Amino acid sequence: MLEVKAVNLKRVKVDTLVVPVCEDRDIHTDKLLTSLVAAAKSFAEFKGKKGDVITLFQPAETRITRAVFFGLGKAGTLDGESFRAFAGNAVKFCINAGLSAMTLATPSATELTVNAETLFGSLMEGSCLGNHIFDRYKMEKEKTPVKKVVLMATAAQKKAYSSLVKSVAAVCGASLKAREWVTTPSNDKRPEAFADMIRNAAREVGLKTRIMDDRWLEKQQFGAMLAVGQGSSAKPRLVVMEYSPKAAKKTIVLVGKGVTFDSGGINLKPSGSIETMKMDMSGAAAVAGTMLAVAHLKPDVKVVGVMPIVENMPSGTAIRPGDIIRSYAGKTIEIGNTDAEGRLILIDAMAWAIRHYQPDTLIDLATLTGACVVALGEKIAGVFSKDPDLAATIVASGEKTHERCWQLPLPEDYKELLKNDFADLNNVSNGRWGGAITAALFLSEFVGDTRWAHIDIAGPVWAKKASDYCGAGGTGFGVRLLCDLIGKI
Ligand code: BES
Ligand code: MN
Ligand code: ZN
Repeated sequence: MLEVKAVNLKRVKVDTLVVPVCEDRDIHTDKLLTSLVAAAKSFAEFKGKKGDVITLFQPAETRITRAVFFGLGKAGTLDGESFRAFAGNAVKFCINAGLSAMTLATPSATELTVNAETLFGSLMEGSCLGNHIFDRYKMEKEKTPVKKVVLMATAAQKKAYSSLVKSVAAVCGASLKAREWVTTPSNDKRPEAFADMIRNAAREVGLKTRIMDDRWLEKQQFGAMLAVGQGSSAKPRLVVMEYSPKAAKKTIVLVGKGVTFDSGGINLKPSGSIETMKMDMSGAAAVAGTMLAVAHLKPDVKVVGVMPIVENMPSGTAIRPGDIIRSYAGKTIEIGNTDAEGRLILIDAMAWAIRHYQPDTLIDLATLTGACVVALGEKIAGVFSKDPDLAATIVASGEKTHERCWQLPLPEDYKELLKNDFADLNNVSNGRWGGAITAALFLSEFVGDTRWAHIDIAGPVWAKKASDYCGAGGTGFGVRLLCDLIGKI
């Protein structure tokens, strides 16, 4: 879909040209573009302010059918995210207008505060991510994605950034896959079905996947994970994906929470909280998506994705508050609340992965707590780690990819809140406050001295409404973040 190409606007026939414009400065060096921008700005309704859009049809002395100008605001304020948003909006404009191809007038990086690589990368990402429609459940498919996006470039830029197309397409394609899995309703992704979806996607990129069933989980004594799954007629699955290059010196394990529907269990969630709980497998979707991208990116580290997948349901066979269970690691847990199920499936998966792979670094992603959304809102994830470098690296990758993360503390004395009279731990805090922290502290009891970070993604994995390069529903949050991170930790 993406191509970096030298385009001579005077000679070549262009159907749809999209042009970013700043209100305070000319960001193009091509003379023809500069004169086109001046023509657009000669109309009172277009000043190049953020959100301004104007279309000129068949501008004189060109072979352009339509040139669409997008205002970006002041040049000095623009960063990578501004260009992702611009490209996303440009693609959406074309989709809405029923146009199948778009030529993007890349601005000159020397006129901007972003470097050329960030500029090209962001334009590619915004184009790919914005070019996505989830209409699988609609009888009438109203819109079709754009088939071709050409990024205008000099010969040198074409040489430098053509290979970027492949890696951006792999990462963004994986991100879109994660979005689709998250948006898919729970009736079509019960644990076995979701595990199969992951395996099928992995097969396409030549990645090895193992699916462990409930009988295996019983033999291995995944007591906490099985306890969560026992209320559902659909049995749990543990999915393991391995990318293992020969020369790998390091092993990274990624663990993703995969609750295909979180009803809360016997502690049933009320109306208002339950409707979007098909998204409670977003951690698993992000990990699986990352593994798909990793198969293309081929980093020189071993990467293993581990996804515990269950459905949390109330029934005659469900776990009850007050039940005491024994986790894979051996520690016993009293169920204070059946809705605190994510931490239960994660600790078994993490303890098993640590025993099995002895990773240098383990990162888990989970839609773990509403409290994290209260703390950081719907667009920023919480990061917890005892390793300050690891946390800082995650936060930095979040800045770069705009999958933003903010570190929260792991205070030892708060562990007091997880003490229980009868079992080794309670699965919920005895207090009301700091729920994201106590959940992370609960996890910390099961990682030993492994270098570990927990990312609570409960907020940013789901969007109520569409934004610049993401539709309503699953956002694919985590895939771009982890892909950026893997080479850095
Ligand atoms: N899946 C939820 C967390 C969640 C809440 C995700 C809102 C996305 C949006 C998790 O399993 C849960 O229910 N957590 C409880 C924990 C509580 C019982 C200690 C919560 O946050 O209320
Ligand atoms: Mn829950
Ligand atoms: Zn949950």
